[in-house]
Amino acid sequence: MSTATPRYSQADLAEILVTEDQIALRVKELAKEISMVIGNQDLTVVSVLSGSLIFTADLFRHLDVPLRLDCIRAESYGASMESRGNPRIETALKNDIAGRHVLIVDDILDTGHTLKSIVSHLTAAGPASIRTCVLLDKKERRQVDIEADFVGFNIPDAFVVGYGLDFAERYRNLRCIGSLKPEFQDPEQH
Ligand code: XMP
Repeated sequence: MSTATPRYSQADLAEILVTEDQIALRVKELAKEISMVIGNQDLTVVSVLSGSLIFTADLFRHLDVPLRLDCIRAESYGASMESRGNPRIETALKNDIAGRHVLIVDDILDTGHTLKSIVSHLTAAGPASIRTCVLLDKKERRQVDIEADFVGFNIPDAFVVGYGLDFAERYRNLRCIGSLKPEFQDPEQH
């Protein structure tokens, strides 16, 4: 077992993959792209908790269209780094999305199981349209056929934390996104 003590700061990262400045710039660009496509239509943003909370908060404030905000929770990883597939949808939406335009906002598209399940769950509610936006895309890990309509950054196959993304519920408050040092990748340690 490792004797290293985590500091829950950038010091625990092996590598920074996306800096705070890169995130801030790209979030503004994404908001512009989305606003152009949506135009003057009323949009319901559905944030996938908890990982996309911080991304949604920043993106939402830059969207220049009539908006509603709702949240959904899907559980697939627990405290590990491996997707268990077939995620459970744990919370119902507060708003009725029948006939509405919906944008699902998620932190990361990895195997694709989570986003695919959420899209089919929300499709059953009869929205006018569903689009998807992810901050990060790990294309090489995909196991199911799904692509996001709006992507912040393509990243290589590494488990990443920061800017809302966690490992065993830690590191969500880091302002950059990076991979953890191997000595801090034991969930028992946290
Ligand atoms: P799937 O594999 O279903 O995964 O596309 C999507 C959800 O899994 C979580 N996830 C991660 N969380 N670092 C994290 O902190 C990662 O590298 C990572 N990869 C997947 C995340 O909640 C995402 O919504």
